[in-house]
Amino acid sequence: MGKATALSFAEAGVRALVCADINEESAKQTAEEAKGVADNAQFESIAIKVDMSNEEGVKTFVDAAVARFGRIDYCANVAGSFGRERKKFADTPAGEWLGIQNININGVFYLNKYQIKAMEKQERLSTPLTSATRPAERGSIINLSSAAAVIAVPGGAAYTHTKFASNGLTKAAAQDHGHDGIRINAVLPGYTMTPGLATFPGASPEGAQKILDANTLHRFAEPKEIADAIVLLSSPRNSYMIGASILVDGGQTITAENE
Ligand SMILES: NC(=O)c1ccc[n+]([C@@H]2O[C@H](COP(=O)([O-])OP(=O)(O)OC[C@H]3O[C@@H](n4cnc5c(N)ncnc54)[C@H](O)[C@@H]3O)[C@@H](O)[C@H]2O)c1
Repeated sequence: MGKATALSFAEAGVRALVCADINEESAKQTAEEAKGVADNAQFESIAIKVDMSNEEGVKTFVDAAVARFGRIDYCANVAGSFGRERKKFADTPAGEWLGIQNININGVFYLNKYQIKAMEKQERLSTPLTSATRPAERGSIINLSSAAAVIAVPGGAAYTHTKFASNGLTKAAAQDHGHDGIRINAVLPGYTMTPGLATFPGASPEGAQKILDANTLHRFAEPKEIADAIVLLSSPRNSYMIGASILVDGGQTITAENE
């Protein structure tokens, strides 16, 4: 989904893109692929290796992005981890509980912290929509939470609690920095066909069917559908949405019963 998001921003006309992942090779591939779909004649993209669970590493990555391009207008914090296998709540080892938390909660905290610090230092960016009553913004941040932030994934306690936390983290950051012109929101995808979902613990044809039966569209999301939602919500056209947790889940959480 991170890759799809990078490509959607490139298609939407951004001037520059920084692709970051703990897997440097895949970040590089995405940065290269983005050049092929970019809509801005001056488009540039770079790749940076970062482990989001390492605070110093995240600071260095954000500093490098600002040093290279001068400012950061849009951030999408997409990376996350589910864990290696499904386990009942009481069978979850503390190490696994803390390990997932370290990526999905601490990592998202570090990213938001240094992205906000960078945005605070930059001027507000006027657009044709800017007016006396609709002020220009300093930047937008979208955190990838999950439909598992409103319902619990069976056997996914460690994951579920981190995604609920992601909504709270988003609201806390938005509350403290909204008046500085920094708009922070969370996107909550439903099941999306990504490499991560394909290796989803316990994934099986029957498991996939259960997921599809419980979703009113009866299909998985394409990564690009989530990516396009992220770009839409990042737009200055969306200037009054702050601290929101937006479900993009194909109806997965609409009802307790399905036809
Ligand atoms: N795929 C789904 O069905 C689904 C549904 C709801 C929410 N989500 C959330 O959406 C986001 C993206 O999911 P996905 O399915 O594309 O995942 P994925 O597993 O396909 O990709 C995750 C990416 O994160 C990177 N990553 C992992 N740990 C990292 C770290 N410590 N530092 C930096 N990068 C790291 C991986 O290298 C990989 O490129 C996640 O936050 C996930 O929890 C996914």
